[in-house]
Amino acid sequence: MTPIKDCIINKKIHCKPIWFMRQAGRYLPEFREIRKKNQNFIQLCLNKELSSEITLQPLKRFKIDAAIIFSDILIVPYGLGQKVEFKKDFGPILGDIDLNIFKKIEEENFTKKLNSIYESLKLTSENRLLNNKDLIGFVGAPWTILVYMLNKQSPKKKITSSLFNNEKLIDELLILIKKFLKIHIKNQVKRGASIIQIFDSWAGLVEEKKISKYIYDPTLEIVEYVKSLNVPAICFPREIKDYKEFCEVTKPDAVNIDYNVDPKEIIKNIKIPVQGGLDPKILLTDKETLKKETLKYLEIFKNHPYIFNLGHGVLPETNPEMVEYLVKTVKEYK
Ligand code: CP3
Repeated sequence: MTPIKDCIINKKIHCKPIWFMRQAGRYLPEFREIRKKNQNFIQLCLNKELSSEITLQPLKRFKIDAAIIFSDILIVPYGLGQKVEFKKDFGPILGDIDLNIFKKIEEENFTKKLNSIYESLKLTSENRLLNNKDLIGFVGAPWTILVYMLNKQSPKKKITSSLFNNEKLIDELLILIKKFLKIHIKNQVKRGASIIQIFDSWAGLVEEKKISKYIYDPTLEIVEYVKSLNVPAICFPREIKDYKEFCEVTKPDAVNIDYNVDPKEIIKNIKIPVQGGLDPKILLTDKETLKKETLKYLEIFKNHPYIFNLGHGVLPETNPEMVEYLVKTVKEYK
C-alpha cells in the first residue's frame, strides 16, 4: 500500500505523505527549459515522452509521495472540440461553444484525440521512480469546466450571471461535460492513474441557491463514478463556503482545503482524510516562516489522516529550494 492510500483507505495517521498541486511546472528550471522549446501548451501535454518526463521532474528533486500527470483540466473541452489556447502571461483562451460539434463527438474519437495522455500515464506508471508512490490522474469538476467553456477565459473574482441565461444550453452542456469527464477518468485509470483528484477551482463563485445544481449533484456523480472504478477520489472545492456540507453531500475519499479556511475549524467538523491548506505564498517567504507555518498544519492534523499539500498550486516565483526544505520539514516531523 502506498503512503497516500494508507492514509486515505486505512486512515493511518502516523505518516504524513506529501505531494504538491502544480508540482510540475513553471517554478522548475528544467520545466521552463522544455517549455521554451514547446510553445504550444496543448501539444506539449499531448507529447507522451515529454509529458512523462515533466511528470517525473519533481520526483527526481524531492522525496514526495506522488506524481501528478502533466496535463491540464482544459484538455477535456479540447477533446470535445472547443478551441483551447494558452497565452503567455494571460492564461487560457477558449473558442466559441458549438453544441452541434460537441454532440457529434463519440467516446472513440475523444479517446483517440487524447490518447497520448493515456500513453504518458502508462509510460510514467512503469517508471521505477514511481515505486510505492501514487500516480495521480485528474479532472476539473463539472462546474469549473462549465465556467471555462462559457467564460472562455479564467474568471477574475466573479462571473457575469448573463453567461448562465440560456438554461437549455447549460443543461445540455452539463450532461456532455459529465459524460466526457467520466470517459477521461476511466481512460486515466485504465492506463495507471491510482488516485483521481477533482479540481473545482471556481467552486467559490457559485451562487448559493445554485450550489446543488452546479456543484453538489454533478460532483457526487463524478465521485461515485471514481469510486466505482476502485480508485480514491480527492476533491478540491476551492473557496467553497461550507466544507463540512460539501463533504457530507459529495462524499469524497479525501478533501483538499484551500488556504482561506481555518484548519482548526476543519478538524472539528470534518471526519474524512484531509489534504493541503498551506498558503503557497508562504513558500515565497523565508525558511523560518515556512517551518513555523508547516508545523502549524502538522500539529493541527497530528491525530487525523492528513496528506501534506498546499491550499492552491505552487506559484511560478517559488524557489525549488524552499520546496525541498518544506518536504524535509514534513518528513522529519514526528
Ligand atoms: O499539478 C501538476 O503539476 C500537473 C499539471 C496541471 C496543470 N494544470 C499544468 C499547467 C494541473 C493539475 C493543472 C490543473 C489546472 N489547470 C487547474 C486546477 C488547479 C488550479 O490551479 O486551480 C486550472 C484552473 C487549470 C487551468 C489553467 N491551466 C490555467 C488558469 C493556466 C494558466 C495559469 C497557470 O495557472 O499556470 C493553465 C496553464 C498551465 N497548466 C501551466 C501548467 C504547468 C502553465 C503553462 C505555462 O504557461 O508554461
